[in-house]
Amino acid sequence: MDEKVAAFKEIRKVGVVGCGQMGGGITQVCAQSGYPVAVSEINDELLQRGLASIDASLTKSVQKEKITQQDKDTTMTRIKGTTDITDFGDCDLVIEAAVENLDLKKKIFGEMDKVCREHTILATNTSCLSITGMAKATKRPEKVLGMHFFNPVPVMKLLEIVRTAKTSEETLDTAKKFGQSLGKTIVIVQDSPGFIVNRLMAPQILNAIRMLESGIATKEDIDTGMTLGLNYPMGPLALADLVGLDTLLFIANGIYDEFREAQYAAPTLLKEMVADGRLGRKTGKGFYEYM
Ligand code: CAA
Repeated sequence: MDEKVAAFKEIRKVGVVGCGQMGGGITQVCAQSGYPVAVSEINDELLQRGLASIDASLTKSVQKEKITQQDKDTTMTRIKGTTDITDFGDCDLVIEAAVENLDLKKKIFGEMDKVCREHTILATNTSCLSITGMAKATKRPEKVLGMHFFNPVPVMKLLEIVRTAKTSEETLDTAKKFGQSLGKTIVIVQDSPGFIVNRLMAPQILNAIRMLESGIATKEDIDTGMTLGLNYPMGPLALADLVGLDTLLFIANGIYDEFREAQYAAPTLLKEMVADGRLGRKTGKGFYEYM
């Protein structure tokens, strides 16, 4: 394959804050689409771990003959890991994918606002925090929006673009074209807790947990029911393990705080599992066990 060149010229370089599961996935997809990417972590250990995950994911694709070794090598050369956020100074778009904490995200947005040039778009991958709140930490609210990717980022085709009351049409248009250049299908939603997908996904998973709690079916039968009965790729309890039970609890609490609707109230079992450190795939144990 010829070296891939980024399809959308307005964004010449991308910054990604955070190289965890989501930040790493976003970095990989941007680099595979031809964009040079700077990706940051809070320390060198986390950075090296994140970069190793991207490397391993690309190696799997080489083994499956989806890409060549040359594609992988070229992709890796486009990625520059850093622990210094001034390296984002020449990025045209920065996507924040740090942990879900509004104060931390506001701090990051404030710093990015100082480090980045005037035209740079600042995006967040938050799953349900207020993007309007993050925009307020900057002097460029018209250039702030949500770019919410789905896990696993290289596989999932959707990109939710979240606009605030202040996001400009120009920013929205650039983000849309950029997302399409990554091969994603775009949906647009106003800033509101859970956006489209998590607002609809959360009650379904929470109800599955309530069913399990009340003993009306086993976890396997709940998941098989939803997988085969609705043609889902995986059942709600397996999906909860993939998303991370801490993330699910965070999303449920965030939406519940806003709407006070019982459908978003976290079941006791979920709270207990999170308190117990049974967070799903990332800890090797959730509703199911993982090697
Ligand atoms: N990176 C790259 N590729 C991956 C991958 C990863 N992390 N995980 C799986 N894949 C690829 C595999 O290589 C495989 O590719 P091929 O078919 O070309 O060989 C393909 O995806 C299918 O994977 P598997 O065969 O290993 O397993 P599977 O068929 O069971 O699929 C799955 C796994 C893709 C996770 C699928 O079960 C699925 O789509 N599940 C639903 C995922 C989902 O709903 N995600 C959204 C969560 S919500 C969210 O992210 C938002 C939020 O804010 C919380």
